[in-house]
Amino acid sequence: MKSVEETLLTRRTIRRYERRKIEPEKLAYIYEAIRNTPTSYNGQQFSVIAVNDQPTKEEIYAITGQKQIKTCSTFLLFCLDYHKLKVATALQGVETPGFEKTIDGYTVGVIDASLAMMSAVTAAESLGLGCCCVGYARTADPERLATMLKLPQGVSIVCGLTLGYPSEMPDLKPKLPVELVVHQETYTADEDMRQGLAEYDEQIRQFNASRALSQTDNDWSVHVTDYHRHSMEHGIAAYLKKWLGLLF
Ligand SMILES: Cc1cc2nc3c(=O)[nH]c(=O)nc-3n(C[C@H](O)[C@H](O)[C@H](O)COP(=O)(O)O)c2cc1C
Repeated sequence: MKSVEETLLTRRTIRRYERRKIEPEKLAYIYEAIRNTPTSYNGQQFSVIAVNDQPTKEEIYAITGQKQIKTCSTFLLFCLDYHKLKVATALQGVETPGFEKTIDGYTVGVIDASLAMMSAVTAAESLGLGCCCVGYARTADPERLATMLKLPQGVSIVCGLTLGYPSEMPDLKPKLPVELVVHQETYTADEDMRQGLAEYDEQIRQFNASRALSQTDNDWSVHVTDYHRHSMEHGIAAYLKKWLGLLF
């Protein structure tokens, strides 16, 4: 098993996998790590759908266009989940107050599911497995995926995660320098950020032009802005309003 330092500091996204299946005891370890995720109020407002069935993975690939879903060993879908609490409180004859419909309730569910995903990433990486988070599992066709996976109302996909034995080892992506990520005591003023941001844009442009597996001429800020523009076209708010009854 990798050290904590190696696990955290050499992690990179892996999108290509060997055909080898992940052993059941390794999956069991990942599931235990997921289970022990810290959650708001210990409410455990998340669930994971584990997809090992090949035809199901291929169907999700057809919906999302993300090839790593069909070639991975196991695909995990991290969902925010207020349904379990509804079932539990109904057993006691108690009604839930509708927290899941509020902006904070939605945020809490997304945080819990995201932390659970990070537990899975860390556990999997420590075992020498590779992972790729798949946001398209949330945005590509949420209603179709929810129906296919039999998600009840109050359960909604936050992110997918492909897992498998790596058959590629891309270069580690440079990240923003620590001073632009961890602000000391108060948020850094714009004038103290500009030089670091410009240098990072140039660093990413050079990395993208020379990295081992696929080269592009992108920098960071314009590339991310393009993604944001594209993401605003998904329009999943209507689905979330219907599926979760959001009030905002
Ligand atoms: C919430 C989330 C959603 C993501 N969605 C996708 C995706 O749909 N497809 C994909 O290929 N990579 C996806 N990624 C992977 C990112 O592109 C990757 O983490 C980022 O480029 C940084 O690279 P690194 O993980 O190698 O450091 C996602 C990552 C996160 C955290």
